[in-house]
Amino acid sequence: MIKKNDEKISFITAVGANGEGIVKEEGCVIFLPFAFLGEKVRYKVLKVKKNIAFGKVLEVLVPAEERVKPVCPLFQKCGGCQLQHIKYTEQLKMKRKTVADCFHKIAGIDPEVQPTVRADNPYAYRNKLQIPVADRDGETVIGFYAENTHRVIRTDKCPIHPDWAEKIIAVFNEYIKEFHIKGYREDTNEGDLRHIVVRAVNEQFIVTMVCLKENIAGTDFLYDRLKDLFGKVTLYLNVNDARTNVIFGKTFRLIGGESTYVASMGKIRYEFGVQSFLQVNAEMSEKMYKKVVELAAPDEDSVVIDAFSGAGLMTAMLAQKAKKAYGVEIVPEAVKCADSLARFNNLSDKMENICGKCEDVLPALIPTLKREFGKVTLVFDPPRKGVEANVLSAASEAGVDKIVYVSCNPATLARDVGLLVGSLKEVDGAIVKSENFTPLFTLQYVRPFDFFPQTRHVESVVLLERQTAGMNT
Ligand SMILES: C[S@@+](CC[C@H](N)C(=O)[O-])C[C@H]1O[C@@H](n2cnc3c(N)ncnc32)[C@H](O)[C@@H]1O
Repeated sequence: MIKKNDEKISFITAVGANGEGIVKEEGCVIFLPFAFLGEKVRYKVLKVKKNIAFGKVLEVLVPAEERVKPVCPLFQKCGGCQLQHIKYTEQLKMKRKTVADCFHKIAGIDPEVQPTVRADNPYAYRNKLQIPVADRDGETVIGFYAENTHRVIRTDKCPIHPDWAEKIIAVFNEYIKEFHIKGYREDTNEGDLRHIVVRAVNEQFIVTMVCLKENIAGTDFLYDRLKDLFGKVTLYLNVNDARTNVIFGKTFRLIGGESTYVASMGKIRYEFGVQSFLQVNAEMSEKMYKKVVELAAPDEDSVVIDAFSGAGLMTAMLAQKAKKAYGVEIVPEAVKCADSLARFNNLSDKMENICGKCEDVLPALIPTLKREFGKVTLVFDPPRKGVEANVLSAASEAGVDKIVYVSCNPATLARDVGLLVGSLKEVDGAIVKSENFTPLFTLQYVRPFDFFPQTRHVESVVLLERQTAGMNT
């Protein structure tokens, strides 16, 4: 029997969904972060739960060929990256397997998964920095959380962010020192500053300091320092005094700069603000949007609904080719940005941006457009939790012709695809496998995109097409 604190030597025989090595020993599956397939490791068992255990590698006795030296000195301490010790080409293969495994295990289907689209820049790719500020024994510390904890590890720079991140952290450290700003204490819900959030596009920066109260010392000093460094920069103060993991509170106060900026992707000019969603990897989102348009293949006879449309970039690319594209998005600021985008690009007649929840809007919108226009394509790009069941059934019942589903969570993607294809069904609120089913949609294409190199995360794009009568998956 495997027990806590056992020390053992074994070979890694599999890799888990989070990139961790897996050992099977004495009837127990042991997960070992930062170990790779084929490696011989000495490890210590930290936790045992029935026949599953979690351990820590003490020494890599025989390293895998795919092992490389991590770039970041904080790797394995900070929870941001999980795969820096693995060659980039191998990371791509792992992500392809993760997606295939989710379809197999969750939806009971085995589509051909295309090779992962690689990032040209596997480092310095993030255009968004989101970093906590904590009080550690009276000292204010800016840094990332250690894996699975809220313990902040001091960080001055991070290789998956461009150089600007290091400069902004340095300015905040100077400001904290100058004005004796206190970091956040989760245990007492006290402090001045709890998060710094930065969005950078085309050399324009929106910086938000998330504070416990609205009035905090030195904000003009901070804005001036940021402006000296970056030129086009906006500083917001967001107030969040709730005990919560949600980063932003409701109130934003503009300290200095423009409230939104205009940027461009290819030939499309778009607006972005502090609250509207933008993909974190511009290079990969451009590649992914092109693939979505190719798969949706809109033409002058078809309308497209871009569900979960953010600031409207993808809606615009679809609208350029379709009879009309409808974006549906919950955040009002994002919808305003999408309206500006439509004007900038002369798409106001071809693009309609609806502010609302997809689960409220789509069950009526899909059948209405289907009746009016005949050919309707749906594009989904939901948050990690996936698409609500009533939206999936509306898509099935109204006779949508095609669905392109973009997802940052292969598990909820597999679940939703299973429900659309019919390999899964809902029984009394639970999702179960369905043995004999007549497929409504067939899964035609699955392609992972590496939006998040060095981390376990993966984006995917899939195409589902309505099944014609009599065909089987
Ligand atoms: C993953 S993002 C995709 C955004 C956009 N497609 C893009 O590429 O920038 C998901 C978007 O869904 C929005 N959202 C979240 N829940 C929603 C809901 N229930 N109904 C409509 N939009 C929602 C979020 O505000 C966010 O903009």
